[in-house]
This record gives sequence, structure tokens and C-alpha cells, in this order.
Amino acid sequence: MTKNTETVGVIGIGYVGLVTGTCLAELGNQVICMDIDAEKIADLKDGRIPIYEPGLEELVASNKERMTFTTALSDIFEKCTIVFIAVDTPPTFTGDADLSRVFQVMSALPGVSREHHILVMKSTVPVGTGNKIVAELSRQENTRIDYVSNPEFLREGSAIGDFLHPDRVVIGSRDPEAGERVAALYQGLNAPILKTTIPTAEMIKYASNAFLATKISFINEIANVCEEVGADVTLVADGMGYDERIGKHFLQAGIGFGGSCFPKDVTALKQLAGNSGYHFQLLTAVIEVNELQKRRVVNKLQKHLGALTDKTICLLGLAFKPNTSDLREASSIVLASRLMGDGAFVKAYDPVAIPWAAKAVRGILLCDDVISCVEGSDALVLVTEWDEFADLPLEEIKAKMKNPLIIDGRNFLDPEKIRAAGFTYEGIGRA
Ligand code: UDX
Repeated sequence: MTKNTETVGVIGIGYVGLVTGTCLAELGNQVICMDIDAEKIADLKDGRIPIYEPGLEELVASNKERMTFTTALSDIFEKCTIVFIAVDTPPTFTGDADLSRVFQVMSALPGVSREHHILVMKSTVPVGTGNKIVAELSRQENTRIDYVSNPEFLREGSAIGDFLHPDRVVIGSRDPEAGERVAALYQGLNAPILKTTIPTAEMIKYASNAFLATKISFINEIANVCEEVGADVTLVADGMGYDERIGKHFLQAGIGFGGSCFPKDVTALKQLAGNSGYHFQLLTAVIEVNELQKRRVVNKLQKHLGALTDKTICLLGLAFKPNTSDLREASSIVLASRLMGDGAFVKAYDPVAIPWAAKAVRGILLCDDVISCVEGSDALVLVTEWDEFADLPLEEIKAKMKNPLIIDGRNFLDPEKIRAAGFTYEGIGRA
């Protein structure tokens, strides 16, 4: 692998920023990571990682000679000519992306424009944002700063692998030389590098996430129809996936998608289209199907248990998917709220996310392990398909539960095995 020797800055050390900075260090660059959160920076200086991502702590440790952490923006602009922006762009009440943190960085620029800098946008920003920033820089007659859009396609839980072995690298730039310098950072990665205009790069990111989310909502609707007609969605998806035009990925039916990207980006693209005068009907349906899917388990529980008042429901898994501590837009949160709204008592266990859940959710009894979680429950709902749940101690669980009912929200468990152990089993879209 070719080693690079740039000094690169990363502004915003959240999930994307920390993975990006660490992987750029792994590729041989010196990296200065900047965040306004002094506590986070202090933790990172001491080798404590604020998020759970497999392999990240080890990679930060093994690159500590090449990584420095700071709260001072000036450090970045004094020492780095390539500066990645990875601040978060959460949804506003309208569904538009909130760009205030991006603009905070931009407003600090005039004071640092003595040197030639390339600003590289990693944050997901609405299509058109890059060109607006370029126009603003030229209005300020700030010709010393180039702008490149370089969207990320990192999946939580496998972000390091995704960065170091990407399917593609997208570089959107106006100035070919700036694009080349950013592309050079990825040269050793053996991935196709697509060079486009800035709006095209921005759109590739949104369209990719929206398409994947559409695939999930599509298979979830197929699952719901399967339940009506007695078909098995897991086999239907398998049969569809053999067709190379369809592919096997992202056809796992379940209780909906969550996370920091899909819900936010699908809504933002729909909103962006609306703001431009186009009603994106398909995405409206994708979002609605997903919201209903998160609540589908409630009907299943009612079917088996009647009214949920005073019933105890145990949720296994809280994170929006396995191998992450992230609870953002997690189906578990919506489901738990609906259950509590119906008068149920909710207990939950997650192998990793409990400390984060303790800060983020109220009213749920958080448990230390599977057994204490299932104790006294009327139903067990598998919400997140953590490996640790693949081989549940069924006999012990049955002895602890008040009622042997398992709802498998991710079609992760073996129905035959569960039923053979004396449970009533129901998945999503399969008998
Ligand atoms: C996603 C994109 O995959 C990534 O490229 C982008 O940069 C950020 O958003 P991430 O949010 O980490 O990554 O998770 P991902 O693995 O894509 O899963 C998102 C959600 O979809 C999860 O809640 C998952 O459970 C759900 N999902 C995924 C399904 O319900 N069915 C599937 O078949 C696949």
C-alpha cells in the first residue's frame, strides 16, 4: 500500500471524523483532529474512545504517533493544507439538514486564508451546498481556499473496513488540481476513484442511501404481504437475490431501519426535492413504511397477549444494528415508547449500548444480561441481531419467562429450534 505524507486536518471528531482521521493516519498521514467538545478531546488525548466501533480503539492506539487532538481551529489551519469537515448535519424540524455547524467552520475561515487550503466536505450536505460555499468564498475574494466534496459511505460496525477497502471513492471538485490532491490520499486503496462535479458527488451520497433505504422498505412491505398469503420472506429474498440485477444485499426484512444516516438522509433528500418543486413520492412511501414497520411488533404482541396493559415485554437489543452503541433513530426506542404508551412494562438488554441507553431513554428497565431481562416477561422481542443472541439458552429463558412467546424482529433465530423448545415463535413475514 502506498504511504502518504500529508498533514491533514479533521474538524468534527464524531463518528465519521474519528474514523476518517484514524484511517488517514493509518495510511501514513499526520492527522490533527479538532472538536469543540473539550471533554471528548481530553478523553482522546488519554486514549479513551467516545464511541463503540470494532477495531477503532486499537487503530487509534497504533497510530498515536501520527495523531494529535485539539480544540483550536487555528491549529488545523496553521499546520494543514487539506482540511476535512466532518461536523454533524442533524435534521431540523422541517427535515432539512441543519448546516449551522458547517457554517460555523466557514465563518472562521477568513482569518485563516493566508495559506492555500483545500476544504474537503465529508459531512452529508444537501446538494447545492458545495456550490454555495464556493460562491461565498469567491464573493469574499478568497481564492486561497479550494473546496472538494468527498462523501463517506461508512457503515457503523464495519467503518474501518469500509474506509480502507471502499467500493468507490467519490471526489467532486471544481478545480481538477484540488481534486487530484484529495484523490492522492486514497491512492493506495485499490478502489475506483470517481471524479465528478460537486453537486454530482453530493447527489451520489444521497441517492445511494435513499436507494438502500428503499430496498429495505420494499422487502419489509413484501414481508407484510407474505404474512397475508402464507409465504416466507426470507426465502423470497433469497430467491430474488440470485438475480444479479437485484443482488442479495439489503433485503433483510425486519422492524425497520434506523441509525444516523438513512432516516436523516432520506428525509433530507425528500425535503430537498420538495424545496426545488419536485414531490418525491417514492421516498415519502419509504419513510412511512419504515415508521409503520417499527410499530408492527405491537400488533403481533396484542394478537398473542391481548391488551398490553401491565404486561412485561423484554427487548433484546437496543442499538439500531449490531456492533454499534448507536441508538439514533433505533427501532427499539420507537417500539419501547409505543409499548409503554399501551401500558406495558418494558425491560431491555443490549450487549454494548446500555451505558448510552441509560443517558438517552427513560422508563425502560435496563438489565445486565439476557436472563435478568427475560425474568417475569410475557414476551421476548428480538430487536437487534447481535451475535450473542444467536444461541440463546432457551430452556433457562423459558423457565424464567411468565409466558413463552418470542417475536423475532430480525428473522434472526431458528423458528424450528425455538418451537421445539416449547415457545410460540413469530418472525417478520414468515410463519
Ligand atoms: C448506512 C450506509 O450503509 C452507509 O453507506 C452510510 O455511509 C451511512 O448509512 P449504517 O447507518 O451504519 O450505514 O447502517 P446499515 O448497515 O446501512 O444499516 C442501516 C439500517 O438498516 C439498520 O437499522 C439495519 O438494521 C437496517 N437494515 C439493513 C435492514 O433492516 N435490512 C437490511 O437488509 C439492511
